[in-house]
Amino acid sequence: MTESKPVLWIERLVPGGDGLAELAGLKVFVRSAAPQEKVRVRIVERHRDYAVAEIVEVLEPSPLRVAPPCRYYGPCGGCQLQHISYQGQLVVKKLLVNDALQRVGKVFVPVHNIANHSQEWHYRNKTQFPVATHIGFYRRRSHEVLAVEECRLHPPQFDQVRATLAQALARGVDQGYDETGHQGNIRHLIVRRSEPEGKMLVIVVTRTRHLAAEVVRALARTPDVTAVVQSINPARTNRILGPEIRPLTGQPYLFETVLDKRLRVSAQSFFQVNLGQAEVLCKKVLKYAEPTGTETVLDLYCGVGMLSLVLAGFVKRVVGIDREAAAISDAEENRRLLGIDNAEFRCRDVESDWTDLAALRPDVVILDPPRKGCPLETLKRVA
Ligand SMILES: C[S@@+](CC[C@H](N)C(=O)[O-])C[C@H]1O[C@@H](n2cnc3c(N)ncnc32)[C@H](O)[C@@H]1O
Repeated sequence: MTESKPVLWIERLVPGGDGLAELAGLKVFVRSAAPQEKVRVRIVERHRDYAVAEIVEVLEPSPLRVAPPCRYYGPCGGCQLQHISYQGQLVVKKLLVNDALQRVGKVFVPVHNIANHSQEWHYRNKTQFPVATHIGFYRRRSHEVLAVEECRLHPPQFDQVRATLAQALARGVDQGYDETGHQGNIRHLIVRRSEPEGKMLVIVVTRTRHLAAEVVRALARTPDVTAVVQSINPARTNRILGPEIRPLTGQPYLFETVLDKRLRVSAQSFFQVNLGQAEVLCKKVLKYAEPTGTETVLDLYCGVGMLSLVLAGFVKRVVGIDREAAAISDAEENRRLLGIDNAEFRCRDVESDWTDLAALRPDVVILDPPRKGCPLETLKRVA
């Protein structure tokens, strides 16, 4: 390979958003490329069986390429596909799923078009800002925090909460966290928003038990903030929340409404970040479950019971399983508030002993595991 700037044809995108091209038989991953375009690149990394390149010039742009609207796009690690039109992103993501199933997993099933019911921007109901000297998001492929004053993925209200904490830190009332030295205090600022009320729950994750009263007061005074919660995480870890949660002002939960069901979500419970898509998900699960009213349904990794409680009205019995005590307590409270009496929730690890779950003889099993996926053993048990 020469030091010249080769011209490459981008075949397709790979997970993570890089474009894949070939140069004299070598795979080249091209950053911020779009599928089906011709680019001149600079090789920035060489490995035995692949190389990484950056675009110097787009010679023939992909029909999917657009100018990214966010001023932080590129350095910010939050987004990978803003240089592709929204409709193009839906196609690219479908192809990635198809590729993962067929080429990697050797599973040959039809992959449908993405059922999209999302707003294009400002759709997230939760954002986690890392806090260091700055507050924002990690730079791409780094743990250095980039100050990001506005983000198009979440409601503009979240930027105001971020600014409030940034101003308090600038006044020196508390300190951001230094990940390298495991020093300083405030590690993350998490903001969650309820729909349709638009009220916000703020979680401040600290290394120590201390959190300056002035920080709490300033956050609590920010418009639409109804609760401030502290999560204490003293460990040297990538996990964001710590084991201890301390409510400081207001109630340590909020309510989200999905398909007319109002659901309590505690600070530490999982909830789908895109409400429009959560409704699509519920409808799809309902469709695929093909309920007749006689089924026993097992909802593995049930969180606050969203899918269980939507299905409960159409089947005989639902049992939801989650290992997070706060989520199970939310699920149980949601069941009670909705007056549903054919759902129950158990706090346990899905992967532990299955005797009780097998004894339920479920007709339908829902699996919505965390991002790392479902262990093979669990899949075998379900099968
Ligand atoms: C992607 S969320 C799904 C939640 C729910 N289905 C929903 O849509 O709101 C995954 C859930 O799995 C739970 N979880 C992760 N690992 C688990 C395990 N080994 N056993 C039981 N629950 C687990 C998490 O607490 C989280 O609530």
